[in-house]
Amino acid sequence: MNLTDHEPIALAVIGGTGLYRLATLAGARSVNASTPYGDASGPLRIGTLGGQTVAFLPRHGEGHALPPHKVNYRANLWLLREAGVRRVLAVNAVGGITQRFGPRVLGLPDQLIDYTWGRAASFWDGADGDLLHVDMTDPYTPSLRTAVHAAAREVKIPLVDGGCYGATQGPRLETRAEIERLRRDGCDVVGMTGMPEAGLARELGLDYACLALVANWAAGCGPAGTPAITMEEVTANLEHATARLPELIAAVLKRLAR
Ligand code: HPA
Repeated sequence: MNLTDHEPIALAVIGGTGLYRLATLAGARSVNASTPYGDASGPLRIGTLGGQTVAFLPRHGEGHALPPHKVNYRANLWLLREAGVRRVLAVNAVGGITQRFGPRVLGLPDQLIDYTWGRAASFWDGADGDLLHVDMTDPYTPSLRTAVHAAAREVKIPLVDGGCYGATQGPRLETRAEIERLRRDGCDVVGMTGMPEAGLARELGLDYACLALVANWAAGCGPAGTPAITMEEVTANLEHATARLPELIAAVLKRLAR
């Protein structure tokens, strides 16, 4: 399938850990494309959901082959833009820092602090003309956040509205002191994939919102005696948190169509 040989895409979903496919995407076809920035995480799946055209891209690849610091964020966003995507709902697994963000919570953050390093964080590297300092005052597009929030209410899916996402480098989890620092900085959740994705989306002028799925208490944040974070715990909590995502995405699409 050609990159542009489809109906206009109403929404693209970037799946994070625990979300490698959208089972409700009907008649999906794969679009594979290399970009001037290299290969995307995998083929873009374009199909229909609730009568609208939706694109899905698993951030870590279909078999979770790419750790957070190896994801080609630029290629992913470029591919979406080239396919005609204008709105992106990014799904990101996170650790919960503050009380409202316990395991299994769905969060819709409205702020972001970037602690990542060494990632290709811009489409403009100085060699290609104009340098662009995009505005990031509100890193997530307010109108898209509003649509997600309203959709969640409509289908009665609990969602914690607002909060600050701290993007760390990974792939290791954080130390107790690092999480305490993030808390002092004002972060509510911590994840490894929120940046540079949000900044790149802004550089391309895409609407972008983050749906944060809390997989675990961040280091040292759980009730006293909480054992070390295990992948089993993370997987179980993410399964729970993703269970109603298809329903939520369908509701978001309905909202956007209004
Ligand atoms: N820290 C960073 N990223 C994460 C975590 C965490 O505790 N859980 C899921 N993604």
